[in-house]
Amino acid sequence: MTDATFRKDSDRDSTLLSTVPLAAYVLQGLFHNLYGIVKFIPSPIGDFLRLGVMRLFGARVKFSWIRDGLTVYYPWRLEIGRNCWINEYCHFNAYGGIKIGNHVLMGHRVSVMSDDHVWEDADKPILTQGRVAAETVIEDDVFIGANVFIGKGVRIGRGSIVGAGSVVIKSVEPNSIVAGNPAKLIRYRNPPPSLPLKGGGDV
Ligand SMILES: CC(C)(COP(=O)(O)OP(=O)(O)OC[C@H]1O[C@@H](n2cnc3c(N)ncnc32)[C@H](O)[C@@H]1OP(=O)(O)O)[C@@H](O)C(=O)NCCC(=O)NCCS
Repeated sequence: MTDATFRKDSDRDSTLLSTVPLAAYVLQGLFHNLYGIVKFIPSPIGDFLRLGVMRLFGARVKFSWIRDGLTVYYPWRLEIGRNCWINEYCHFNAYGGIKIGNHVLMGHRVSVMSDDHVWEDADKPILTQGRVAAETVIEDDVFIGANVFIGKGVRIGRGSIVGAGSVVIKSVEPNSIVAGNPAKLIRYRNPPPSLPLKGGGDV
């Protein structure tokens, strides 16, 4: 923060527009304004309204319970299957795409990312260096504990459990129980869930 340019409004504007394509920026703004109206409406009515606004902006969401306070960026790159429970105050940044399967249970305040900042050039502000994107996938029947962070490009295999407060930056094999920062395997689930999952599954 020693560089004075960080504090100039004119520089802030130009960096914003150069790192975010204009159409996406405008669409994102429209989405935020409309979604903001329904973002904190309590469940269950709020769940339906949030689902509807996300769909209006291109999210492919089947019927799932979307609790209040969920923040979504780039809803048109977000996919959520059926009968998921997304608890309060989660955060999805779908810049690189986020795919969530069926019957996924997510505790409160879970962050799911699909991009990261580029920071290789130490002589330039990080904000001007663009972003690197990779799709993040959470397969069917995954249970994610509260306050978990899931980094870009991670795939969490079907039937897995992620312990509360974990930081997941590497993919997780199906039917694993992982926890910690960084998340490590505790053990595999025993017995493994039957295939195919009752109620269907395709992620
Ligand atoms: C991950 C979890 C499912 C494991 O439960 P469990 O099988 O009963 O695990 P145990 O208590 O036997 O712990 C096994 C080991 O994992 C560790 N561990 C368990 N949960 C952990 C967590 N969240 N973070 C870090 N380590 C964890 C334990 O310390 C223990 O380590 P040790 O063998 O070195 O002593 C559970 O701890 C958890 O985090 N559940 C999520 C709860 C939640 O967020 N609910 C939200 C409701 S929607």
